Amino acid sequence: MNAVPETFSKDIVLVADKLARHYSVKRSMFQQGTVKALNGVSFSLERGKTLAVVGESGCGKSTLARQLTMIEAPTSGRLLIDGEDVANASRAKVADLRQRVQMVFQNPFASLNPRKTVEQTLGEPLAINTKLSSSERAERIAHMMRTVGLRPEHAARYPHMFSGGQRQRVAIARAMILDPQILVADEPVSALDVSIQAQILNLFMDLQQQFGTSYVFISHNLSVVEHIADDVMVMYFGGVAELGDKATIYARPRHPYTRALMSATPALFEEDRRIKIRLQGEMPSPLNPPSGCTFHQRCPYAIDKCRVEEPALRFVDGRHVSCHRAEEVGEIDA
Ligand SMILES: Nc1ncnc2c1ncn2[C@@H]1O[C@H](COP(=O)(O)OP(=O)(O)OP(=O)(O)O)[C@@H](O)[C@H]1O
Ligand SMILES: [Mg+2]
Repeated sequence: MNAVPETFSKDIVLVADKLARHYSVKRSMFQQGTVKALNGVSFSLERGKTLAVVGESGCGKSTLARQLTMIEAPTSGRLLIDGEDVANASRAKVADLRQRVQMVFQNPFASLNPRKTVEQTLGEPLAINTKLSSSERAERIAHMMRTVGLRPEHAARYPHMFSGGQRQRVAIARAMILDPQILVADEPVSALDVSIQAQILNLFMDLQQQFGTSYVFISHNLSVVEHIADDVMVMYFGGVAELGDKATIYARPRHPYTRALMSATPALFEEDRRIKIRLQGEMPSPLNPPSGCTFHQRCPYAIDKCRVEEPALRFVDGRHVSCHRAEEVGEIDA
């Protein structure tokens, strides 16, 4: 795993290079403020692999998803898809890239058109983007329905006639029908019953095996991504706390925030209960960001330096981590 965009030695399908997205908001009648929802995030996505993006509500995960899927343009930073710099690409090229990057949302009820049957939902992208005849389209739709575990004879059904898990299968089928290179899934199982979550996670993994799709898989829960992830990026307050391959990070997290997320998920952290971190307080207001390390107010490891100096993302013990005390975290009690 390498976060440095220049490293094209691996087969990299997407590079985010210091991506930032700031929003201008009204603080009061007279005052404008800036929310730095995404504040310089860099990583690379290997072809056919899964990068899990994890962090608390409000840390910028969906904002990142909107930049990666080109729904929004970043305030600064670069996005490269298959080596193509999106900002400098022609309009036709961007249209092509948009088709190659698809998205699955948390709530399939909201993301599917209630007035369209499955056949219409899946048929539309085929009609617009391919030259298939209507019988070929019907065949493709039936095949895709089977692939995601739906019965083709249900093609004439509307979204409300399915269960939550089945609806998410429809949304996944829609995202996969044009065989995208990249799938960005924003909390795709969070709205589902726990018993259904594992089935949908397995479906994602089967589809990746079958089609070689690269995934950015967003979740607020480290245990949800434990099986699906190859690499993990832990986000905090619009930035990267820790980034590396799953085995390295899960074995010994080096950012106190990653440790805190793991402590909150007991199943993940059984060997090392000794050094447990409980998250104190809440994420600071995005309109009033803390000085120094954005995590210092909640961090049991914080020292004076953390209050004044913003930690750079640096390579420690096999992963990238933005913490002044990364070498000590996991070795000593806070
Ligand atoms: N269009 C916008 N205008 C102003 N602020 C925004 C906008 N979109 C997001 N934000 C702010 O940016 C920050 C990050 O939001 P985002 O939705 O990306 O977080 P998230 O990690 O997806 O959270 P959740 O887990 O709740 O989905 C939040 O403080 C949010 O209020
Ligand atoms: Mg979100």
